[in-house]
Amino acid sequence: MIRIQKTTLLFLFVLLAATSSLAPGATGQTAAKPREPADANEPWPKEAARAAHGMVATDEALGSQVGVDIMKRGGNAVDAAVATAFALAVVEPAAGNIGGGGFMLIRLADGKTTFLDYRETAPGKATQNMYIGKDGKLDEDTCVIGYKSVAVPGTVAGLELALKTYGTMKLADVMAPAIRLADQGFLVSANLATELEEDSPGLQAFPMSQQVFLNKGKMFKAGDTFKQPELAATLKRIAKGGAEEFYRRETAEMLADEMAKNGGLITLEDLAHYKVKVRGVLHAKYESGGHSWEVLISPPPSSGGVAVIEALNMLQGVPLKGWDDPQSVHMVAETMRRVFADRAAFLADPDYSNIPVAGLTDPCYAKERASTINPAKASSSKDVTAGTPHVCGVSANPDAAPRMVASLGEGPHTTHFSVVDEAGNAVASTYTLNHSYGAHVTSTAGFLLNDEMDDFTTQPGVPNSFGLIQSEANAIAPAHRPLSSMTPTILLRDGKLSFVTDSRGGPTIISVTLLSILNWMRLGMEAQAAINAPRFHHQWLPDRLLLEKDFPAGLETALNARGHETLRRGHIGLVNAIGIDRATGERLGAADPRDQGAAVGY
Ligand code: DON
Repeated sequence: MIRIQKTTLLFLFVLLAATSSLAPGATGQTAAKPREPADANEPWPKEAARAAHGMVATDEALGSQVGVDIMKRGGNAVDAAVATAFALAVVEPAAGNIGGGGFMLIRLADGKTTFLDYRETAPGKATQNMYIGKDGKLDEDTCVIGYKSVAVPGTVAGLELALKTYGTMKLADVMAPAIRLADQGFLVSANLATELEEDSPGLQAFPMSQQVFLNKGKMFKAGDTFKQPELAATLKRIAKGGAEEFYRRETAEMLADEMAKNGGLITLEDLAHYKVKVRGVLHAKYESGGHSWEVLISPPPSSGGVAVIEALNMLQGVPLKGWDDPQSVHMVAETMRRVFADRAAFLADPDYSNIPVAGLTDPCYAKERASTINPAKASSSKDVTAGTPHVCGVSANPDAAPRMVASLGEGPHTTHFSVVDEAGNAVASTYTLNHSYGAHVTSTAGFLLNDEMDDFTTQPGVPNSFGLIQSEANAIAPAHRPLSSMTPTILLRDGKLSFVTDSRGGPTIISVTLLSILNWMRLGMEAQAAINAPRFHHQWLPDRLLLEKDFPAGLETALNARGHETLRRGHIGLVNAIGIDRATGERLGAADPRDQGAAVGY
């Protein structure tokens, strides 16, 4: 039965983005209370929160505070990130999760870098055409709502591996705050109450979701205490038994059992076989503003790292004056158009697909790609196809020919957070259930399940719920990881930690992360200004330039005169970044005022 159409999800997202109100952003103080109701008249903070020792910037003050408390107790940035991630799984249920997956980029103070890929995988019984009906049409509901849309979760395995490898504390200790928040409850914010109301059509279709998130049908109001006893019990079992509990013991059995009873595909075997992948970080070097910069960024199955490096390469030598300058916006938008055409053609799970990463991120290829941009006129996306990536001095390899392209899209929730500790260890973490509240299915173990299967190419040539066209290399197959736009990024300036960033927002993640990097590295903005600055997004198809509502009308007219079809969006993306003050070494927490993120430091 149809519960929520994919188009409805997309519509809700656009509506939310268009109507979301301004809200207080970064705070430097202790924040033990939930978010206050958004106040449309509240000015955005102009300055980042400053702290001498450590900083955590997340979507939720309660989550940021958990991370800071862990650092105050002697934990490092990885301890704090793991504690924060488990806490967000309790206080930010739309995106914080243990039933989804994500990426964590870590740079230790000694210079070591690593990337943990705990993206979900397709279950063993998944098939390429599992969402295509007898009529040959894509079933737009089953891939985003309900048990069949769920991919094998990776978060618990990823967090445990991060802690074991780079943390200093015990799992039970870093999970204690999350357990307390689930057990004793926390006060529902106005935002959470509104979100749950908005998602109630999807949530009420599943008895456990109705019980937990809709308060057995009574609904939550701002100020109510929200306790999650089933989740608390699961977190306690994980704290004791580790990821083994989630993937092989009681929690696994609960999950496999409910999947079998409700037409889901995930089995005990799928859970037992789940593996985190430790991948090499992508690196790129630039000179800007008299400094040497190094960009450390996510490798595939993130599409974002490759796309951002390709874009930064294409923009080298392009003068950028700021986002009130139509020419600067034009050049970046044309760059995005080309980068997204390449994303659609080449990016997929690197374990099953030969991705021309070296060519796509090579400056010679970028130069060729950039030479197709008309500085005076917008291209039409129908005339822009994927390029033929190759490295300098080597001609294009026929293997690098673009693959058949299918689709790409955007959705409302995912959550990115940044952590920097006193020693200078840094974590950029982004994890997701895909859409807000994922598949809208809550396990009997008390946690929401992802709908990450929709990030695969569910039908060639048909855009996904984010409007994205993707290649056949991203087709559904057992154990494959769906392509992601999440782009955890860390910047070094003259060899030293400088900026930690990423965003939420489906494909807009890539554009928003790129803009945050350009704002900090190329335009020299202060940390908070780099996050507040207006955002735009072009993803090749559909052929239109999204502009945040704060851009002046004159800028839009100037872009239209260059041939861009423009569309206003309320807000695009959500970045919780941390910069480092070059002079003082202070941590500059820049939470995104587009929602009610909080940067908390000490
Ligand atoms: O991994 C991805 O690219 C998507 N699942 C992310 C979804 C997302 O960011 C939704 N919105 N904020």
